[in-house]
Amino acid sequence: MKHLRLISTVGAMAVAVAVSAQNKIVLHPENAKQTISKDIYGHFAEHLGHCIYGGIYVGADSKIPNTNGYRNDVVDALKALKIPVLRWPGGCFADTYHWKDGIGPKEKRPSIINTNWGGVTEDNSFGTHEFLDFCELLGCDAYVNLNVGSGDVREAAEWVEYITSANESPMTQLRKQNGREDPWNVKYFGIGNENWGCGGNMEPEYYADLYRRFATFCGGAPYRIACGATADDPNWTEVLMKKTEKQHSITQGLSLHKYTLPINTWTGSKGSATDFKEDLWYSTVSEAWAMDSLLDLHIGIMQKYDPNNEVGVIFDEWGCWYDVEPGTNPGFLFQQNTMRDAIVAGMGLNIFNNHAERVQMANIAQMVNVLQAVILTKDEQMVLTPTYYVFKMYADHQGAKLIPTDVQSNKYTFEGKSTKTICASASEKDGVVTLTLVNLNPNKGESVDVEIGQLAAKTLKGEIVTASKMNDYNDFGQAEKITLKPFDVKKPAKGVLKVDMPAMSVIKIQLSK
Ligand code: AHR
Repeated sequence: MKHLRLISTVGAMAVAVAVSAQNKIVLHPENAKQTISKDIYGHFAEHLGHCIYGGIYVGADSKIPNTNGYRNDVVDALKALKIPVLRWPGGCFADTYHWKDGIGPKEKRPSIINTNWGGVTEDNSFGTHEFLDFCELLGCDAYVNLNVGSGDVREAAEWVEYITSANESPMTQLRKQNGREDPWNVKYFGIGNENWGCGGNMEPEYYADLYRRFATFCGGAPYRIACGATADDPNWTEVLMKKTEKQHSITQGLSLHKYTLPINTWTGSKGSATDFKEDLWYSTVSEAWAMDSLLDLHIGIMQKYDPNNEVGVIFDEWGCWYDVEPGTNPGFLFQQNTMRDAIVAGMGLNIFNNHAERVQMANIAQMVNVLQAVILTKDEQMVLTPTYYVFKMYADHQGAKLIPTDVQSNKYTFEGKSTKTICASASEKDGVVTLTLVNLNPNKGESVDVEIGQLAAKTLKGEIVTASKMNDYNDFGQAEKITLKPFDVKKPAKGVLKVDMPAMSVIKIQLSK
């Protein structure tokens, strides 16, 4: 049944939407057993473009307000996001990075060429201390990615020792000389990055042997993460799991990377971040579902070798990848962020929540000024992107118990192609149930019946991220077009909560006793 309904709850916007009523979500609170790792809400910061320099770190002498060189505006915005974990220094940069270049007095640190990203000179003024102190400032865990591609085992092992050891040794003495008495509390260490590509173009068998060697000698690393597959390369996962099957004590995580591209090519145009029509909206949001099927694929393989879920999936690069903004350095991967990105962010986080039994961490690429960033900066100005607001909205899922859901969804159809239009996840923490919903369709509202059963619902709260146009975005020096707004939630009747979702919307609903 279809009819027009006026939804007047979206801030000042009154949105007339055609709604239909076949969407249904059944919550199963009786099966809420898995904890959603807070680290699914993680981030990634690489020495790439203006992610670190200009975005996070401007140096203590900058006219941009800062604390020890870290931008105050960016730090405040990130703290409000409750970031759980941050990965660094790459990405591809990690397998070119020699950590001893980035410690000690800054004026003595050597400069290097950043061969992956624009061939620019990297002065190493942001190194181990600057990164780990930044994580302490944000109150988040650090995830350090070691160099396998162009580094050696000794260099990696010494870095782990420099960071984590409380004993006396040449490395810990060096750390103390550089001003840090106590070790940092770092749990996560990645052993190489994309070693099937920029990290050395290796075969999985060769990398698996290297992994075992590095992981053995980096014994001080509490949680070691092997480089996993690119998107749909099941053979890489198969070989890695097989060759490390007997070594689960040295493998705690296996990474996975999947970027969402409107036009699926690494060599030609991927499409503009802002100047697009519905064909590229459709291809992007339908492609985002691949994060779901790829997880099923890789987890299925892992299950054969590790039926007890001892090795976590670390989805440490994900997000939308478009052409760079016109006039910007092609090697800097700077792109704007629209309502389309908010949809993909909401979908990704729901998908990871729903795989909570295996997904231990996810890191959106990247935190500031690169790819699907939550923050963009231009000199002293800062913009919070639609993706930022989705992360803010979803933060209540961190560390909550996943409530399994059955989702029956209408189709979003474009030029004869169809995809599911509703993507959802739910969780419970401290007596509060949080349900997050995404409607992918940019033209049509969707009515969703949520069967909440016996769940008590005295207090009901809602929030929404939506837009008037699919390529709306927040720009420098202008009022925000996309932000978090309150969303009115109707009282449930007979155990069913009816949610009228506007077109292209991400919604959070909370129920508490
Ligand atoms: O995030 C940008 C790049 O994408 C990373 O450096 C690399 O790991 C991936 O190919």
